[in-house]
Amino acid sequence: MKDKTVILGIETSCDETSVSVVVNGEKVLSNVISSQMEIHQAFGGVVPEVASRRHVERITLIIEQALTEANVTKDQLSAIAVTQGPGLVGALLIGVAAAKALAFALRIPLIPVHHIAGHIYANHLVTPLRFPLIALVVSGGHTELIYMEDHMRFERIGRTRDDAVGEAFDKVARLMNLPYPGGPHIDRLAAQGSPAYPLPRAWLGKESLDFSFSGLKSAVMQFIKQNERYSEKNLAASFQDAVLDVIVEKTFRAMEQRGVEHLVVAGGVAANSGLRSRLHHRAKQNNRTLCIPPLELCTDNAAMIASAAYFFYDAEKKADLELNAVANLPLV
Ligand code: KG4
Ligand code: ZN
Repeated sequence: MKDKTVILGIETSCDETSVSVVVNGEKVLSNVISSQMEIHQAFGGVVPEVASRRHVERITLIIEQALTEANVTKDQLSAIAVTQGPGLVGALLIGVAAAKALAFALRIPLIPVHHIAGHIYANHLVTPLRFPLIALVVSGGHTELIYMEDHMRFERIGRTRDDAVGEAFDKVARLMNLPYPGGPHIDRLAAQGSPAYPLPRAWLGKESLDFSFSGLKSAVMQFIKQNERYSEKNLAASFQDAVLDVIVEKTFRAMEQRGVEHLVVAGGVAANSGLRSRLHHRAKQNNRTLCIPPLELCTDNAAMIASAAYFFYDAEKKADLELNAVANLPLV
């Protein structure tokens, strides 16, 4: 362990309390994820105050569990990494406070990490990132296309102008009376149906790499109001088709525009089977490399934070104990 960089990462930006130990940014020794999903399910979405309280209750235990599973003692740690933002500020604060306390007590560096940088670096845990690359980040809170020329160099070239894609999945699922989170339910139904109902696609211009999903969501709402009886499977398939048409097209448009060969995907919506198969197909067709991490690394986890932090550690981008959580932290 002596000549290795052992980073303990903490992630509490939303409804997962996660702590992980990662060596040299690529070898995961432990990645403990304590999900609060069942608690929030009753409310049909994440309740910020409930999330913060649950993080407070869990964080110390999860830190201990991550160290035990990794078979690492605190004095073997090189640094503490933590998600600084974006996210729910009350939830982020719990992770930041825990990270500061640990770094102070152990007299080791404290490394703040942007949540989206973390999502992208989940791919580095699968295969080392190759540059330049395009990262498609699709989650409950984000829909972004990021261009990276090298490690830690992020350029946001596309973003959503309204709802995030996962949010759109969840809202449409709610309109269809499916349980929260609705993404996986839409995915399952869509696989059994066909895109028989015409729904709009927001292209936002020929060159644009931005996204918009609120019009599509309203169209589904109108459709449900106007049609007392409809096929759930076909509506799910029609909605998913409209979303994926735009996402896949714009991702490959971005690669074309920037002359990029490598594509990485991140975020909870990367679990979508339709998205995965379409991206694989298109990447093969266009001769591009594609990496989609396994599910547990696509959704929120601390291993991705500890991996990204390794490159900040090398770049000496360390914080002091004044570090604060920032709900709308910009990536660049
Ligand atoms: O990355 P994530 O776990 O949390 C955020 O940082 O937001 O993403 C959660 C989102 C939810 O909106 C959920 O509905 C969506 O990912 N999701 C899916 C699927 N699995 C999860 N959306 C579509 N198809 C899926 N199979
Ligand atoms: Zn996330």
